[in-house]
Amino acid sequence: MRPKEAAQRAEALRETIRRHDHLYYVMDSPEASDAEYDSLLGELMRLEEEFPEVITPDSPTQRVGGTPLEGFGTVTHAVPMLSLGNAFGEAEMRAFDGRVRNAVADPGGYVVEPKIDGLSVTLVYENGQLARGATRGDGVVGENITQNLKTIRSIPLGLPKPGVSLLEVRGEVFMTREDFARLNAAREAAEEPLFANPRNAAAGSARQLDPGVTAARPLRAAFYEVRRIEGIPLQLHSQGLETLKTLGFPVPPHAICQGIEEILQVCAEWEADRHRVPYEIDGMVVKVDSLEVQSRLGSTSKSPRWAMAYKFAAEQAVTRLLGITIQVGRTGALTPTAELEPVRISGSTVSRAGLHNEDYIRVKDIRVGDWVIVQKAGEVIPEVVRVLQERRTGEERVFTMPGKCPVCGSDALRLEGEAVTRCAGISCPAQVREGLIHFGSRDAMDIDGLGPAMVGKLVEAGLVRDVADLYSLTPAGLAAIERLGDRSSENLVNAIQRSKDQPLSRLLFALGIRHVGKRAAEVLAQRFTSMKALSEASLEDLTSVEEVGPKIAQSVASFFRQEQTRDVLQRLEQAGVNMVEHVQRAGDLAGKTFVFTGTLSIPRSQAEALVKERGGKTGASVSRQADYVVAGEDPGSKLDKARSLGVTVLSEADFLGLVKG
Ligand code: IVH
Repeated sequence: MRPKEAAQRAEALRETIRRHDHLYYVMDSPEASDAEYDSLLGELMRLEEEFPEVITPDSPTQRVGGTPLEGFGTVTHAVPMLSLGNAFGEAEMRAFDGRVRNAVADPGGYVVEPKIDGLSVTLVYENGQLARGATRGDGVVGENITQNLKTIRSIPLGLPKPGVSLLEVRGEVFMTREDFARLNAAREAAEEPLFANPRNAAAGSARQLDPGVTAARPLRAAFYEVRRIEGIPLQLHSQGLETLKTLGFPVPPHAICQGIEEILQVCAEWEADRHRVPYEIDGMVVKVDSLEVQSRLGSTSKSPRWAMAYKFAAEQAVTRLLGITIQVGRTGALTPTAELEPVRISGSTVSRAGLHNEDYIRVKDIRVGDWVIVQKAGEVIPEVVRVLQERRTGEERVFTMPGKCPVCGSDALRLEGEAVTRCAGISCPAQVREGLIHFGSRDAMDIDGLGPAMVGKLVEAGLVRDVADLYSLTPAGLAAIERLGDRSSENLVNAIQRSKDQPLSRLLFALGIRHVGKRAAEVLAQRFTSMKALSEASLEDLTSVEEVGPKIAQSVASFFRQEQTRDVLQRLEQAGVNMVEHVQRAGDLAGKTFVFTGTLSIPRSQAEALVKERGGKTGASVSRQADYVVAGEDPGSKLDKARSLGVTVLSEADFLGLVKG
């Protein structure tokens, strides 16, 4: 390909990728499958690698990457980022409207938007390109997190239309409840500390020194304020939102209200139905629509006089704690759960709540029979917040952690310095079950149909005792399971078979090695590239990897020392499960096709594996699609064909130089 063609192709790919990003992250209506998207991005990456001169600062490839920082730089905001005043309840909201009307006779309409619970950020676009992104900080000086914000795919890196020479927008970086739950589940599986709520998860993820970590977190953004704009005149805040939308920014849903009654009605509707959006909101924001009226009203040192946050009531309820049961997790952790007298908390019935561990119960002095306050913390698993001591009768019972696992009866032990009590049984069915569910989960081997219910049936029917057993399941074998149709059996077996091609990083995460989360699995797979190399790595080799500390290293080394591990891995390999990672490096073979002819000094299978390990493909016959023909001794007619088609011919030595290079 010539540079000019490459530049054209790259631009076309960028356009298509941007469109798909917008459809997926802003419009919530994706058109491309993940595989199609990855292949477009892969092609663009290879093209830009070959022709670095075609890279543009707003190319989707520039979202990831960048080296970790020592610390964030600071940004002094051109316009201070103010906070909002709070109104609790109807009366305070009416008072706000009254103040506005006292100051200006006819303030016009108001815009009412949900108040997204995330991290407040500001973005500056200069000459159509994202130049800077920063946190609010103290409102005057924030942190420069440009590199991290660039990894969020709903944030445009460039503006579509020329003519906006300067744009500054304010918005919120957040995580949906569903993404938050998945992230925490994966962290729990890897025994990493959990985030308390989606807001902490979003803020923590956006403020990582390594943008690679941020890129791996499911962050979203929505923009609700044009702070500065040159090139488009605006009269209304609502026009600003429409403009942001046409420039490609996600904006929050918003209603235009003509007076306080309408405002209160919209706020009440949202409060009753706050779950209608898939992210956390802690109230509504009411803003005067006219920008001219806004500037007449002005601001105090802390907050504008033209806007107010209407705060929702906390989602709490009082109920009775009927009992405490124990759940056993994949790692054998015994987790106490509160069984409650069912109670409604803003729209849903709650009958169970998390109690975390033995210490939580002791510190809060929670007893069976107590009246307790239950709260939906961040819309996730409800929590018991505190006990109503004054309602005690003396009949309440103090809880003690059982000494035996309630599922398999093995000893349950709590090691010194740890908060968790664990089942010591190696083949505890609860652990086996949870391990299988984790193995098939979306971020792990991504096996469709292998959810908790199916795993339960497979284990109960004695068909599966560990993850390797999954790969010998057949539709006929699944007939042992009641009420499972032929179609479902076949789909499940197919999904399991397809998972064999997952990269090593997913397999490592799926195996549920303690302390090895998604990120650690990726780093390890990139560094060692094969299960064999990883299994032979010494503690020193392991800790020499950036981001791998002694805890992960110890855990990985001890995992590979287990007899049981070796057995499972051997059976997985025999079943044909992929055990290598395709690593992208400079000069790698991604997208290249090799055809072999003649006899090589190494077995053909080994030569093919070398190509595959570096991301290349092998083909059986020579065509124009082949990039290289490798000619060993006594090459056949393939060599002539290669020459006649003008395909590059490599000797074995050239080939080895290339793949090992
Ligand atoms: S307007 C000067 N609109 O709430 C007014 N803020 O408690 C700028 N927030 O720091 C803010 N959703 O992070 C506005 N639709 C929305 C919002 C919103 C969430 C956050 C924002 C701000 C905090 C104030």
